[in-house]
Amino acid sequence: MTSEEQARLKQQAAERALGLVESGMTVGLGSGSTATLWIKLLGEKVRKGELKIRAIASSEDSEKLGRSYGIPFTNFDETKELDLTVDGADEVAPGLALIKGGGGKLLREKIVASASKRFVVVADGSKQVEKLGKFPLPVEVIPMAEPLVNEALRKLGFTPKVRVNPDGSQYITDEGNLILDCSGVLMDDPTVIGAKLDSIVGVVEHGLFLGMANLALIAEEGGVVERTR
Ligand code: A5P
Repeated sequence: MTSEEQARLKQQAAERALGLVESGMTVGLGSGSTATLWIKLLGEKVRKGELKIRAIASSEDSEKLGRSYGIPFTNFDETKELDLTVDGADEVAPGLALIKGGGGKLLREKIVASASKRFVVVADGSKQVEKLGKFPLPVEVIPMAEPLVNEALRKLGFTPKVRVNPDGSQYITDEGNLILDCSGVLMDDPTVIGAKLDSIVGVVEHGLFLGMANLALIAEEGGVVERTR
């Protein structure tokens, strides 16, 4: 698939997700290129006065983008539950098990998704896999604990790599942590791996989103396919 084809499919998935938003909803804004397309479509509707919503974003970038369209924002002091969150994914496996965090926003993405009545994934067909793990699993780590977490992840069979920016400096998350991109494990049972990761002290969050998504809108050449758990 060329990058142009992929961009067109991402746009189709984003357009389909726009149809799920109704006035009066509180909406979670995901992060990454597909979620960005969706935020732009949503923002246009808000700007034209066709939709009245309030939002919580999963990253500083997405909030900035939303604000540029005049989307009003709320927070978890005011709003404990979101009606709908739309976000992308790096891998989508059977049961709507996901790897997320390729853009480094997994912690806030997971918080926003966990507070949502409905969590909808938008993706192009290339994100579908039979088993999670070809895409390196992002794990967000407290900087001081990185060497310890690194070792613990190696014992689980992963090859962790500290994420760096294009200029070679360490990538720092919105919450001031590091990301370890963990390759080398194709997951037969992501739930078991997720529980092991949860038990490592110093791990803030990981990019396995299990039992969270209600619907995936997967754009393929023949159209947008709806997948449920
Ligand atoms: C951001 O941290 C990620 O979880 C994204 O949702 C994921 O990487 C998918 O991104 P694209 O929509 O850019 O492929």
